[in-house]
Amino acid sequence: MRRSNSTTERLFRAAGISAGMTVLELGCGPGEISELLSEIVGPAGSVLAVDRSDKMLSAAQETLEKAGKKNVRFVRADLNDAPDYLKDVDRASFDAVAGRRVLMYLASPDRVLAGLLPWLQAGGLAVFEEADSTICPGHVATMPAHERGVSLLNKMLGEEGVDRSMGFHLPATFSAAGLQFEQVWAEAVIEGQGEQYPLADLLRLLQPRLESSDVVTTSELESLIAQIEMERKPTDVFVSGMRFCAKARKGEDLGGNP
Ligand SMILES: C[S@@+](CC[C@H](N)C(=O)[O-])C[C@H]1O[C@@H](n2cnc3c(N)ncnc32)[C@H](O)[C@@H]1O
Repeated sequence: MRRSNSTTERLFRAAGISAGMTVLELGCGPGEISELLSEIVGPAGSVLAVDRSDKMLSAAQETLEKAGKKNVRFVRADLNDAPDYLKDVDRASFDAVAGRRVLMYLASPDRVLAGLLPWLQAGGLAVFEEADSTICPGHVATMPAHERGVSLLNKMLGEEGVDRSMGFHLPATFSAAGLQFEQVWAEAVIEGQGEQYPLADLLRLLQPRLESSDVVTTSELESLIAQIEMERKPTDVFVSGMRFCAKARKGEDLGGNP
């Protein structure tokens, strides 16, 4: 089971993340994006990857070790707190702050980004991919099991207090943080296309979160997954979500640098 990182890779490269850069990655999760950033910045660059979950950080460390990447350092911190994890890092050290599907989990993403600005160089980049699940699902064929699957995922995110419209909020978030917003675009996540997680696999993967949010029982979920697998025809197009990609820059005239 693999998830496509091609959208994220295109975003990072188009935004200007490149060889030799020093990047601060927020909410690294199991390390897929840390690995991607490690490849893009290469041996002359480096990545500092932050997450609050020990489990995610162990998985990420394992991912990078397996890939033989040595230019990523991991740190455990809650991004909602003051960035004490940067206390020994020189100001204006980072060329970019980046991440995927992390701002949506933060209570005040603009405040978190604003708090990191002193560590971003003048002209440095903020590059994020965030989801929107409020304008989906989109389909013309009758696909009730798929619709139910997406509605369960949305309910779970709602119960978790996640901003399901974070993609739409990216430009305003950058701007409120004091960054200069430059560009946003979006891509549809089409069920079963490329390396996207098919919906049934995604539901299986997220089963513990779905159950702990009291959104669905194990037996209901198993039956729904079976229905989704039966219902899916290769000719039916089902849009299960949107990926928003956005870029901003720290102005040359902003304070915070030494
Ligand atoms: C949906 S995962 C995304 C992981 C990774 N960026 C990716 O796209 O594969 C969100 C990650 O953000 C982390 N996260 C959420 N809130 C956080 C916070 N307040 N501080 C640090 N990490 C946080 C979670 O632990 C999780 O690993």
